[in-house]
Amino acid sequence: MPQHEQPPTNAAPRRALVTGSAGFIGSHLAHALVQAGTTVIGVDRRDPSTDPTAAANLAALRGRPGYHHITADLLHCAIDPLLIDADAVFHLAGIPGVRPSWGPQFGDYLASNVLATHRVLEASTRIGVPRLVVASSSSVYGPTDGDASLETDRPNPASPYAVTKLAEEQLCLAYAERPVGPSVVALRYFTVYGPRQRADMFTHRALYAALTGQPLRLYGDGHQRRDFTYIDDVVAATIAAAVVPTAHGPINVGGGSNASLLDVINIANSLTGREIQLHQDHARNGDVLLTRADPGRAGEVLGWQPRVDLHSGLRAHMQALAAPVPDYSRAA
Ligand code: NAD
Ligand code: UGA
Repeated sequence: MPQHEQPPTNAAPRRALVTGSAGFIGSHLAHALVQAGTTVIGVDRRDPSTDPTAAANLAALRGRPGYHHITADLLHCAIDPLLIDADAVFHLAGIPGVRPSWGPQFGDYLASNVLATHRVLEASTRIGVPRLVVASSSSVYGPTDGDASLETDRPNPASPYAVTKLAEEQLCLAYAERPVGPSVVALRYFTVYGPRQRADMFTHRALYAALTGQPLRLYGDGHQRRDFTYIDDVVAATIAAAVVPTAHGPINVGGGSNASLLDVINIANSLTGREIQLHQDHARNGDVLLTRADPGRAGEVLGWQPRVDLHSGLRAHMQALAAPVPDYSRAA
């Protein structure tokens, strides 16, 4: 074993497949797993040698002996060989984002979020992978009345994206009911933020506006609220989901930092000492006014609770945004 690799512990799987590993959450997860001693096969259709975002996301993993990257599309590639001897598959590949899902890209959402998931489930069943952790979404709840959302609440997705995430999650849970195939933990992530967050997301855009002085487009009045969840907390919940002995139903991964967009703007202003210039725009279809997680089940099943408060998380996110983009070709 190379000296800098940690010995495997039962707090993380010994070997795992991470789908969507060139993405925001997948790259953080893959890195944390490698740090914990897991041998990780990462698969993503974005090629880090040609896609700058994938390259930046994977820079810290390049050359690490515990990490093996495959550029492939889960809709077409042979998945079975990627799963041999895996203790777990973390299925994070998908097309995220509420707003573009109303457009012509919907077919891509359906294909990557539902059809590719079906292929991952079939392959996992054939190979006998014991556990599948799937990235579901707070968006499956849709508009809420202000109370924290419980996993037992009736889903009411308000956008085409949310419909595909509900279908994806339920497909995985249906497979889990069969006597063969992996046990499944479906994690409903709530608005994840932190270093390398997708550039279409609000927190990234607000911090970028505060750092550069460029205007920020605000959809609606800014009073919409989210349970902003820091990336390290999301990764911790995701790894825990792979090793807990029993798994059943969906689990909320959120809570602890419920805030409005205006609250985020105020923190960004105070971190930079610069006032963000706002361009008010109309509210977007399918954009809910509030998300709020009941974190009870995550505590009971995963022993998880969010640890990073919004102010500290935004400070870390901003520091990462201000740092130079890592060069993939030179990363060790
Ligand atoms: P991301 O776009 O940064 O990462 C997703 C990755 O999946 C991308 O690198 C993409 O290339 C890859 N991918 C998509 N389709 C693929 C395919 N057919 N084959 C291979 N690779 C494919 O997004 P993210 O923010 O890291 O989100 C990861 C997952 O978490 C998604 O499933 C998303 O729906 C879910 N989620 C994210 C959030 C959030 O706040 N970021 C919240 C809830 C749920
Ligand atoms: C986020 C992710 O983008 C989804 O992929 C994920 O599934 C979802 O979280 C989830 O929790 O499940 P969202 O909460 O809409 O979705 O996060 P953002 O895309 O960052 O948007 C947050 C709010 O900021 C929305 O009200 C949006 O309209 C607003 N916004 C976004 C702006 O006002 N301006 C922008 O430039 C971007």
